[in-house]
Amino acid sequence: MNKAKRATFGSKMGVVLASAGSAVGLGNIWRFPYETGNNGGAAFILIYVACVIAMGMPVMISEFLIGRRARANVAGAYHRLAAGTPWHWVGLMGVLACFLILSYYSVVAGWTLEYIVEAVTNRFAGQTSAEFITSFDAFISNPWRPIIWLLLFLLATHLIIVKGVEKGIERSAKIMMPGLFVIILLLVVCSVMLPGAEAGVEFLLKPDFSKVTSGVFLSAMGQAFFSLSLGMGCLMTYASYFNKRVNLTKTAFSVGTIDTLVAILAGFIIFPAAFSVGIQPDQGPKLIFITLPNVFQQAFVGAPILSYVFAVLFYVLLAVASLTSTISMHEVITAYLHEEFKLTRRKAARIITGGAMVLGILCSLSWGLTSGFTVFGMNTFDLFDYVTAKIMLPMGALCVSVFAGWHLDRHIVRDELTNEGTLKHSFYRLFIFALKYLVPILIVAVFVNELGLFSF
Ligand code: PFF
Repeated sequence: MNKAKRATFGSKMGVVLASAGSAVGLGNIWRFPYETGNNGGAAFILIYVACVIAMGMPVMISEFLIGRRARANVAGAYHRLAAGTPWHWVGLMGVLACFLILSYYSVVAGWTLEYIVEAVTNRFAGQTSAEFITSFDAFISNPWRPIIWLLLFLLATHLIIVKGVEKGIERSAKIMMPGLFVIILLLVVCSVMLPGAEAGVEFLLKPDFSKVTSGVFLSAMGQAFFSLSLGMGCLMTYASYFNKRVNLTKTAFSVGTIDTLVAILAGFIIFPAAFSVGIQPDQGPKLIFITLPNVFQQAFVGAPILSYVFAVLFYVLLAVASLTSTISMHEVITAYLHEEFKLTRRKAARIITGGAMVLGILCSLSWGLTSGFTVFGMNTFDLFDYVTAKIMLPMGALCVSVFAGWHLDRHIVRDELTNEGTLKHSFYRLFIFALKYLVPILIVAVFVNELGLFSF
């Protein structure tokens, strides 16, 4: 691959928004609330934020510096910086994780398209909470509808990917991200003002540590890596398109802050609303699809037009946030096939889109037709989610931190963090300490704790 011809993002703003676009998505608005609901609320959030700060930030900065230095796809990056060693297997694991996540994530992204249609045709009007639950269950177990939406969603991702880095990825993120933020803030206000919303606010703010079981640590850690798009080389691939002037530490702090803020705000939309209509917080993946239609109905009882506009806007923005994330997963694999196997981007993208469609269909059917097929009590969809978020991403993150902390030449690390000595880096020592000891020990401890060999 010719280094000089490699694409780059056009501006610093584009860099932050594209990276935040990858990070912010269903992970924040769909997965974070249901993990919080399943794991007891405020205590989970505290552990989650600790994971973001102690593990997420050092790993994100490492992915950035490895990616920008190598200027290659995730497997190629390890080839370049550690030629002749087995490190490229870590890159390959990242490519595989991205492919699995892309497949099941697109199923949920497809659900958001169905909900756009529901909102546009005003089908939420007059339904009760019980009816929202039954119609959602009927929809996801239908063998056709979710699959059609899944295919359309993957097609949209494909079309942006073939347009390339600057015109496709950067431009779409610049338009979509600010809109999403504004609508989220408005919805928080609506949700906390619903009658009975206080119980939801309390659930989010008052930690009850008696609910913290061993699995909570693994869930919080997995969620942190998933939400920050870490551990599978996604931000590493994006960083390979950063130019030499981008301040990596600052960019990582901006992306981490935006991502965490959006997740917590999503909690403030979902839980006050759920408690207000008597929906239990531990509903799993269906949580946002059954609580939010209620919010739109009840927040503006006297002004149905506002209910309508908010519902449409919200699902459009949710679909868009999912799209900026699926684009980033697709890009990891496209860049890999394009650079390592010399396929054209178009051809590489076609192979990935086709493959993700097949796996996505399997995941989608596991909510209906094949729901009886389970492994360790999980259907295919849950299994993909568990294996990626709770095993592959933490292992990928562990490898990234060991690679940057122990293997990479210290001059490379320093040059990348300080942009060849032109920037100050006050936490350099702390950063190296975190990579060498803190992150690996914490990740291993969470795994060992989960296996029951040791308990926090
Ligand atoms: N971070 C994304 C989200 O929170 O929705 C999900 C994600 C994006 C996971 C990119 C993995 C990835 F490579």
